[in-house]
Parts: sequence; structure tokens; C-alpha cells
Amino acid sequence: MEKNRRHFIKNMGASVAAIAVGTAANGNNQTDKKILHSSVRVSANDKVRIGLIGAGIIGHFDTDAALKVPGVELVAVCDLYTGRIDAAKEKYGNQLFTTRDYRELLNRKDIDAVLICTPDHWHQRMAVDALEAGKHVYCEKPMVQKIEQGYAIINAQKKSGKVFQVGSQRASSVAILEAQKLVKAGTIGELSFIQAFCDRTDSRGAWQYSIPRDASPETIDFDRFLGDAPKVPFDATRFFRWRNYKDYGTGAAGDLIVHLLTGIHVITGSLGPNKIFSLGDLKMWKDGRDAYDVVNALMNYPETPQHKAFQVSTRVNLTDGEGKGGFGIKLVGTEGVIDIGWNEFTYRTLKRKSAPGYGGYDSYESFSAKGKEEFKKWYTSKYGEDFGGYEIGKEMAFAPPKGYDDRLDHLTVFFNAVRTGSTIVEDASFGLRAAAPSIACNLSAALDKPIKWDPVAMKLL
Ligand SMILES: NC(=O)c1ccc[n+]([C@@H]2O[C@H](COP(=O)([O-])OP(=O)(O)OC[C@H]3O[C@@H](n4cnc5c(N)ncnc54)[C@H](O)[C@@H]3O)[C@@H](O)[C@H]2O)c1
Repeated sequence: MEKNRRHFIKNMGASVAAIAVGTAANGNNQTDKKILHSSVRVSANDKVRIGLIGAGIIGHFDTDAALKVPGVELVAVCDLYTGRIDAAKEKYGNQLFTTRDYRELLNRKDIDAVLICTPDHWHQRMAVDALEAGKHVYCEKPMVQKIEQGYAIINAQKKSGKVFQVGSQRASSVAILEAQKLVKAGTIGELSFIQAFCDRTDSRGAWQYSIPRDASPETIDFDRFLGDAPKVPFDATRFFRWRNYKDYGTGAAGDLIVHLLTGIHVITGSLGPNKIFSLGDLKMWKDGRDAYDVVNALMNYPETPQHKAFQVSTRVNLTDGEGKGGFGIKLVGTEGVIDIGWNEFTYRTLKRKSAPGYGGYDSYESFSAKGKEEFKKWYTSKYGEDFGGYEIGKEMAFAPPKGYDDRLDHLTVFFNAVRTGSTIVEDASFGLRAAAPSIACNLSAALDKPIKWDPVAMKLL
């Protein structure tokens, strides 16, 4: 086995490493920058002016990444909390146009594209309004809070002809794209199942985000935050920790399984599962939230022209006592396995021998001495010295180049499409096909039954 492994590493340059980006298992730097979207050069004179709607945690990450794309300029910021407007000005400059009303931002002629980084219950309305106002839209995941909200975005995008991309950066991650090539090439045989998980241990991982000391009805436009959600009195916890409430978020499943399914759909080319069964519990973070902190789900991916049938088991555990945390997608095939973290993975193949072998945990051991002798004779005459089993084939570790940022790649894909009309993988249909089964986990857990979904027609059955 060790000999085979060394053999692979020795020969890796001629096989997998030839398509790999980053540092391969043998320590050689195998950077092939062609695959990195962010290495595509555009003219910095070709300006794209953006507006940010929702200057919270991810609004900053997305804007910072967007501003690294040559020629992108931030013109305006919309947010409902004064402290975040102030923070945006501190970081991006006093020249920014700021408002609490996103429609004022959409009315501006000097804005080409918007980043929608608001809570989930606002995504659909803002995305449709922005497309109708003629803006290109980068909308954070999950694309929608409720499954039925997806169709309006798909239609608005078609009607507007503008670029629309959902913000799960997994779709552009170099690790996901490399894994896609391996699966397509049949490297791990036929896909049997996928295990995908997101585990978190600490309170911020469980969405108990810091609440600023000046949070008040004066500094926060709480009624506007509520939007179409049920009216409740001012509550800073709901505003800053909205994910924990079904009225605004999509829970552990909608928020995090959506990233996992995005990766799985890109790798396999699948349109999604047709059956989702899920369990949900609120185990530990009993802070007034009504969202689960432990979700386990099973999904059936039926055979399609793109792939044979496979199963997905997935979980989000915000109560992880192992203390490791983490995020992973493990693709288990009949001839190998790919184990993906965030932007890195390991992969291993095996080869089964054609002879069945005998002995060990086998009925052979229970035969009489005479029976064993007869069997051995027969086996040798049929299979010779081939004692069956399997051999480990290739083993490899993939890592992206140092400092690699999948969010930057994802935003680069978006701005390239804005400039050149190039294709978007994570478009509105893709976004709904990843969001709907994730949100369906909540439905299945609440209704205590499997949810049937038509991934082609994008309809609940
Ligand atoms: N792609 C990723 O890796 C990733 C990571 C985290 C969050 N997200 C997504 O990004 C979105 C935002 O998450 P977050 O953690 O940044 O939340 P956040 O609470 O930190 O920020 C949301 C901001 O939106 C503002 N807002 C709310 N309603 C608004 C309205 N009607 N008009 C204008 N502004 C409004 C709030 O004032 C707040 O500052 C969510 O959909 C989340 O799922 C994506």
C-alpha cells in the first residue's frame, strides 16, 4: 500500500496535480492561476459603481472583497442602524451617500449594481425592486426566506436582463471546482453518498452576536427592519440576532445547509434532491430563540442525465461539544473519497481486485480441515495467487494558494458578468434550487414528514 502511495506522489505531477491549483501533497507549488477568477484582468477605467444595502457583518466582507476587483467603486450605503452608517463612513469615506431607505439608493442613476446583505426576510423584495430599477444584483444567501419567493426573483431577472448572482461563495471556490473535475472524470467511481456538515461550538457561532450599547429606537429603524414580519415592540436582540427567529431568518438549515448544497450542486451538476427528511431540536441556546440549534437531514438525489442517484446526509450542529467546529463535504464513491473542508481537500482512490479472496472474517474459517483443503485447491486453480481485497491508489491533498479568498473569486465572477455578460452559475434558479431543499429541512422537521420537491420544475409536491 505504502509503495502505491509513494508511486502516486512520485507520478502526481503527471496526473492530478496537473490540474491542481495550490500546494499539492508533495509540497510542490502547483499554482495554475488560470482557474482563479480573480486573476482575470479588467481595465480599471471600466468602472462599476455599487451600492451596499445592509452594512452589517457580511456587508463589510462583501464590500471589501468587491473593492478589490479593479474598477469597482462604492457610492452609497443603506442601513437601519446609525452606528453602522457611521462605521461605513469611517471605513469607506465621508463622500458616501447614506440612507435608511434602500429605494433612495435604487433611484440613483450613478449606481450600476447593488450588494444585498440584509436579513433573509428582505432578500426577495429588495432583489426584485433592484432588478426592476435596472441594477445588477449580488444577493446574499439564502436567496429567499420562503420557497415561494424564488419565482418572483427568477422572473424579475429574466425581464430585466440584468446580472443576478447569489452570494454563496462556495459556487466559485477553487476547491469546489477542482473537486468537480475529479468527480466528473469518474476518479472516485460512482458517487454513493455525500456527508456534509457544519459544526460550531461558541456563542457567536450560535449567532449570539454583540449588541451595541447605544441600540435604541432612536439609533435603529426597527419598524423598517420588521417589514412584512409580525409587528413586535422594539427589541435590539431581534435586530442584531435576527437569525435566531423564524420571522426573519431561515434557521440553521436555511442559513448553513444552503452553503453545503451549493457546493454539492456545483460539484455534481445536480439540480437538487426530490425528497428531504429532517429532524430539528433546540438543545442548548435557549435564549428566547425559536430556531433549531441541531438539525440532521437526509436527502435523496434521483438519477438525472448529469449523474446517477446518490444520497446526502447533512447536519448543522451549533452545540458541538467536540470543540473542533468546522465545515465539510465528504463525497464517498465506489472507488474513492474526496473530503473537502472550506477551500481545501484530500482525496484517495482505491482499486478492488477481481478475485474474491478468502479467509479472515469469512465462512472459510468455519470449514473442516478437509473442506479448507478442497477449497484452497479449487481457489488456486481458479484465481492463482490473487487473494482479492483492494489496494489504495492515489492519495492527494489540495490546498489553494496562500491568502486565497473564495469570496473575492465569487465577486469577480459577478463583476465579470456585469462587464462582459459572461454566464453566472449561481443565478436565480440555482439559488432557489439550493435554498428550497435547505428551507424544506425546517418544513420537514416542523411537519414531521418528508418533503417532496421537484428540482427541475422547482415546485413543492
Ligand atoms: N455568504 C456568506 O458567507 C454569508 C455569511 C454571513 C451572512 N450571510 C448572509 O448575509 C445576510 C446578512 O447577514 P449578516 O450576518 O451580515 O447580518 P447583520 O445583522 O450583521 O447585517 C444586516 C444589516 O442589514 C440591515 N438591514 C436590515 N433590514 C434592512 C432594511 N430593510 N433596509 C436596509 N438595511 C437593513 C441591518 O441594519 C444590518 O446592519 C444574510 O442573508 C446572511 O444569510 C452570508
